[in-house]
Amino acid sequence: MKKRVAVYPGSFDPVTFGHLDIIERAAKIFDHVIVSVFVHSAKKHLFAVDERVAMLKKALKGKKNVSVDCFEGLLVDYVRKKKTDVVIRGLRAISDLEYEFQMAAVNRIFYKHIETVFFMPRVRYSYLSSSVVRDIAHFKGDVTKLVPAHVAKAIADRRNK
Ligand code: PNS
Repeated sequence: MKKRVAVYPGSFDPVTFGHLDIIERAAKIFDHVIVSVFVHSAKKHLFAVDERVAMLKKALKGKKNVSVDCFEGLLVDYVRKKKTDVVIRGLRAISDLEYEFQMAAVNRIFYKHIETVFFMPRVRYSYLSSSVVRDIAHFKGDVTKLVPAHVAKAIADRRNK
């Protein structure tokens, strides 16, 4: 039987408990989930792509049907290369919908077979985003309830540099 493979793309700068919640849900439904960090060189990031990939790998260690990768260029090309047509995205609140709707629709123009599947994280993470984490970190706030311990440490190390 054909394996159901899905790509979960994002910036993951850094990975949060909200992302991990989505991955856990997706991994229950799909045979394989590829979590892939988008390489956007023009954008300013807190962590480099290889650091974000390493943080994701550590957070997902032991999850047999989840792998971590990165990609450049159009998502549709990457999805095709991975021989799948499913994209996973998290939907936290209605405010996410406009952006997600636009992305899913644009992706479908370029690859008509693509399907975007949305997962809703638990309500406790519905306010959580990487940018909230970066903001709290910037003002030296405590992020330990928002991200895995190794990510919180990486943020603290970066802050103290
Ligand atoms: O975590 P993010 O920043 O919301 O993720 C956005 C991401 C990386 C999924 C999106 O920007 C993307 O797919 N970029 C790849 C370039 C692309 O295909 N753009 C066209 C879709 S609008």
